[in-house]
Amino acid sequence: MKSSPSTSPISVRGLCVAYDGPQVLRGVDLEVEAGSIVSLLGPSGCGKTTLLRSIAGLQEASAGEIHIADRLVTGPSVHVPAEQRRIGMVFQDWALFPHLTVGKNVAYGLSRDIRKTAAGDDRVCEALHLVGLSDVSDRMPQSLSGGQQQRVALARALAPQPEVLLLDEPFSNLDTALRVEIRTEVHRILTSLQVTSVFVTHDQDEAFVLGDQVAVMHEGDIAQVGSPADLYAHPASPWLASFVGEANLLRSVVHRGVATTSVGAVPIHARNNAVKGTEDDSAEEGVVDVLIRPEEIDLQRDAAGRGEVRLVEYYGHDSTYEVDMGDHLLRVRLGSVPRFQRGDRVTPTFVGDTAASFPAAERRSISREEPSPD
Ligand SMILES: Nc1ncnc2c1ncn2[C@@H]1O[C@H](COP(=O)(O)OP(=O)(O)O)[C@@H](O)[C@H]1O
Ligand SMILES: [Mg+2]
Repeated sequence: MKSSPSTSPISVRGLCVAYDGPQVLRGVDLEVEAGSIVSLLGPSGCGKTTLLRSIAGLQEASAGEIHIADRLVTGPSVHVPAEQRRIGMVFQDWALFPHLTVGKNVAYGLSRDIRKTAAGDDRVCEALHLVGLSDVSDRMPQSLSGGQQQRVALARALAPQPEVLLLDEPFSNLDTALRVEIRTEVHRILTSLQVTSVFVTHDQDEAFVLGDQVAVMHEGDIAQVGSPADLYAHPASPWLASFVGEANLLRSVVHRGVATTSVGAVPIHARNNAVKGTEDDSAEEGVVDVLIRPEEIDLQRDAAGRGEVRLVEYYGHDSTYEVDMGDHLLRVRLGSVPRFQRGDRVTPTFVGDTAASFPAAERRSISREEPSPD
């Protein structure tokens, strides 16, 4: 009988890491399925790099366990060294050797006994071919563009055919246009190879585009894991709602599963009702904060409307309006043709399906708060 591959080549359980002071990782749990890409998304300083370095074996843990392909690599009195973990890493700064050719940089990723052999040469060729750089093998890294250098770093990480690939903010040193281009290319490569990957970023777009699953980190712990669509529609907290996209959080009263808001009647997701843990129908009643995404609101021109357009932001593919409702602001996203100007009076309406809600937070009086890690 053929043995089935492990479904979780990376399994992190209860991982704690401290440097000198308080814990930087506070009992992290994370499962990464075979062949999938998990984006690790979180604000700067929340512990993403520390978690990645722990998986790589570059950082010791004070508690918890890490399994890679069912092998305990970090645990009580176990610390398998980095070079024995079959892991490929790509860093933000690429870390290429300036005095070595592209080909030699890629070969450097291979173990010493394979590097000098014909098989080693083949691996280098294959890896360079994979990232579309077969023709620059003899060039020096600094003669390449930033995007090409990052692809060399990826080729170097892939050449040893690692069990898992870890990428730490690999695109953050590239300018915007290049960043999107290389992101798509890396996505294509990782998807075609089906290499199990953890991709660290503080950029929500990047996390959503690349990740089959997104794990959001907050202050040394994983706040929520889910598919990008699930996270966007069902964030577990107001903080997550604002961190994974723009969020209008509208203080409203729910009656029989429908919230009365400043954008009209909004049906609330059953699984997201404000008061959980009771079977009583009246559990749906009460004061809540309703999550409405900007694209779930339409605007009608209305001389007697309560809203006034305060700000117009034109993005090309769409436009965003900030609407002053008197006691709160709304963010509204409409199509690419600008329809309103500053000063226009409007009536907003909900055009979504259903919405998530949260227990009404104390002190929240306006619809939009900046995401704050505190
Ligand atoms: N080598 C280190 N020594 C002491 N503190 C560190 C070290 N590396 C990171 N930290 C601290 O640990 C926290 C998490 O850092 P890091 O894992 O780099 O976060 P992220 O990658 O999410 O920005 C931060 O508060 C950072 O200052
Ligand atoms: Mg980092």
